[in-house]
Amino acid sequence: MKPVKVGLLGLGTVGTGVVRIVEGHQEDLQSQVGSPIAISKILVKDRTKSRSIAVDSSKLTEDPWEIVRDPEIDIIIEVMGGIGTTKEYILEALERGKHVVTANKDLMALHGQEILAKASEKGCDVLYEASVAGGIPIIRTLIEGFSSDRITKIMGIVNGTTNYILTKMSQEGAAYEDVLKEAQALGYAESDPTSDVEGLDAARKMTILSTLGFRANVALEDVDVKGISSVTQEDIQYAKRLGYEVKLLGIAERQDDFISVSVQPTMVKKSHPVASVNGVFNAVYVHGEAVGETMFYGPGAGEMPTATSVVSDLVAVIKNSKLGVNGRQAALAYKEKKLKSDEQ
Ligand code: NAP
Ligand code: HSE
Repeated sequence: MKPVKVGLLGLGTVGTGVVRIVEGHQEDLQSQVGSPIAISKILVKDRTKSRSIAVDSSKLTEDPWEIVRDPEIDIIIEVMGGIGTTKEYILEALERGKHVVTANKDLMALHGQEILAKASEKGCDVLYEASVAGGIPIIRTLIEGFSSDRITKIMGIVNGTTNYILTKMSQEGAAYEDVLKEAQALGYAESDPTSDVEGLDAARKMTILSTLGFRANVALEDVDVKGISSVTQEDIQYAKRLGYEVKLLGIAERQDDFISVSVQPTMVKKSHPVASVNGVFNAVYVHGEAVGETMFYGPGAGEMPTATSVVSDLVAVIKNSKLGVNGRQAALAYKEKKLKSDEQ
């Protein structure tokens, strides 16, 4: 049986997990999509680097165009990160009729509209479940699970690194810098962790969630952002004595036609379920007019949880392409909404 050929851009934390799942779950994946899945080429920065996974070295390349322009490759999985040139590779892949799966929230928060428009023009899918909340299928849930409802609020912890840091500072009295280094070693942090600790990563995720949840064009620059770099051990212990935990919360609300989105360290009463979301775990609350309050919880970063979302998107893309359906194009039907900041 002819395999579906996949080009993998990136073999770091997430890319390694993708290879492990595609190889380790091959039989189960094949039973769902009806053909074998082969990762035929892999982009890396340095082919000579030692890796935590054994891969056939003939598959490795340092030339992105060798993958993006390969007519044999049906689907591109982008887990290399970055914005500028990465966008070029994705647009070129779509131009050539390849479907794309990405974990890149930086790119989707800034250029999602352009990328989805190109996908629509070319009849391709672009799925990006792993871009928000690692292993929690929150994007799928917002687009499909709540298509019947009007969402009024999305709130939660959407960055694993900062939640890991705040948890260790609170529970173990650990020093900020030490725990940040641990989060980096565990593969949770971005290549430049400034975007984690200054709240930008969470802001990008809230941009994506509020755009999809409110079916509106929410721009990153409309999000009020404050990170955790100025939160001290004293702040955390003081909050604890008052019965609170400090959490980095993303909050997006819609009132009539106005939307506000923010990311900030927040004192959360210990009795609130968000206060007990610890370590790398994320939690997202979604309030809909009809459904009321719902909560989604799970690992927000790391190799295998994130790769689970990526490979589930891969399965969806293959199923969609076989059925002739562009699964995520519904997300393009954004209704223009005014943002609160437009008023000011
Ligand atoms: P990573 O560990 O730094 O891996 C990046 C990979 O891409 C490496 O294999 C690197 O090659 C390759 N690469 C980077 N720039 C390249 C270039 N210019 N040319 C060729 N190869 C290049 O990153 P990651 O943690 O897996 O994250 C990847 C993406 O997933 C990012 O967009 C990130 O935001 C997103 N994400 C990560 C997580 C997580 O928990 N880590 C969760 C959700 C989403 P070398 O191996 O040779 O250095
Ligand atoms: N750096 C991100 C985090 C990775 O810690 O949440 C997952 O998107």
